[in-house]
Amino acid sequence: MVTLLENPLRVGLRKERVPEPQILVIFGASGDLTQRKLVPAIYQMRRDRRLPPETTVVGVARRPWSHDYFREQMREGIEEFGGGIANEESWQDFAKGLYYCPGDIDNPESYQKLKTFLAELDEERRTRGNHIFYLSVSPNFFPEAIRQLGAAQMLVDPVKHRLVIEKPFGRDLSSAKALNRVVQKVCQEQQVYRIDHYLGKETVQNLMVFRFANAIFEPLWNRQFVDHVQITVAETVGVEDRAGYYESSGALRDMLQNHLMQIFCLTAMEPPNSLDADSIRTEKMKVLQATRLADLHNLEFSAIRGQYSAGWMKGKPVPGYHEEPGVAANSTTPTYVAMKFLIDNWRWQGVPFYLRTGKRLPKKVSEIAIQFREVPLLIFQSAAQQTAPNILTMRVHPNEGISLRFEAKMPGPDLRTRTVDMDFSYGASFGVTSSDAYDRLLIDCMLGDQTLFTRSDEVEEAWRVVTPALMAWESSNDQSLVPKYEAGTWEPTEAELLMNRDGRKWRRL
Ligand code: BG6
Repeated sequence: MVTLLENPLRVGLRKERVPEPQILVIFGASGDLTQRKLVPAIYQMRRDRRLPPETTVVGVARRPWSHDYFREQMREGIEEFGGGIANEESWQDFAKGLYYCPGDIDNPESYQKLKTFLAELDEERRTRGNHIFYLSVSPNFFPEAIRQLGAAQMLVDPVKHRLVIEKPFGRDLSSAKALNRVVQKVCQEQQVYRIDHYLGKETVQNLMVFRFANAIFEPLWNRQFVDHVQITVAETVGVEDRAGYYESSGALRDMLQNHLMQIFCLTAMEPPNSLDADSIRTEKMKVLQATRLADLHNLEFSAIRGQYSAGWMKGKPVPGYHEEPGVAANSTTPTYVAMKFLIDNWRWQGVPFYLRTGKRLPKKVSEIAIQFREVPLLIFQSAAQQTAPNILTMRVHPNEGISLRFEAKMPGPDLRTRTVDMDFSYGASFGVTSSDAYDRLLIDCMLGDQTLFTRSDEVEEAWRVVTPALMAWESSNDQSLVPKYEAGTWEPTEAELLMNRDGRKWRRL
């Protein structure tokens, strides 16, 4: 049962609904994600009355914290990362629904204790047995946690019990398949929410609205008009204090196989028959099935990795990846990857999609750029200059919006052209900044809407696409084979060559 609420400020794909009361159980609750993202998102949604007052959060982790200590930690998180506490009354009311239950991932007794505690809370908080289990632990613990939840009969109700799994889902094709098997043993696909927070970003969702709610772009969205597509997710941060995780992950597993490939799918997919979760996920799956690395025989023509060396960011010296705390001296973990994909279908045959992501790049910026073909004949000979091709850019971050670059005549007696932009900005048009992706994803999970979550077959297919690169890169631990780029610069020379060979350039953002 859901209630319909009108909220003119939120531009969603449907009307806003309020989920049933439920308990969100977070495994790994002493970690950053809980304090910085998950609990602040729940607090904000409670304040906006998008969640019912019975909403309850139970943190689970090894540390022997009390309920009160957990509440203090969460309060600090909301104050520092979540826009602050509105007033003492709203906090007190919210804090009453926060609990902590210490436990070990691999100890069956911890699950029995948790189960009893949840039953008590269901009575006290009237949460009606609706439980979401959110795995925000290190990916090595996913299989164990899922098995234990299954053994404790905590995922038996296909409607009331849900499982949220953070990324990366597996570390390659075979481990993703194995993890899917573990999941499928204990619950049904309709209970599983494989999270990719990029899908919760307003601008990423807007890709579908832009493509399918407007008649003029779709006819151009194909090999006849598009020269190539560039998808960039650049970060300025380094590995920070996450070497423990990042060393076994790297840019391909941490960003490209999930975030960038999801954006890629939404950019390239066919119009779905409807907006229901399976129609959309099936279209994304079809794109992945037709996708391959551009050249499987010469990997350097289609997949490049890189690692940052010491450099300068905003006028300050920063260490190279190898000097970061917790990073092995001979580490070959890539902090940068660029890939060239081709899609073997009627719409995209021969159109390259270039994807790149990296840490310690000069700017934090995420965008999708569709570059159109050049005009067939340039008749403005007297212009004595080259015209630039049209580019449609969808900015995911910062200045969320869309712009179209085209040529215009410069004022004056001469026929000279200049490149100009037509620009849409979220902030200017809607007067609101887009909300954090996690609130959208959490509420969708509570509502049982899987549209913005990845299906088992999608995740596997995305791994399949990148497997040749993973295998080649991991077949040797020779440090000298990993190209370097200085922190604060755009990419290793090898990645530039990947583009130059095709007569193209990476966009300088
Ligand atoms: C996470 C990665 O999924 O996404 C991080 O694990 C990365 O390494 C982050 O920094 C980037 O997310 P956003 O939303 O800041 O672009």
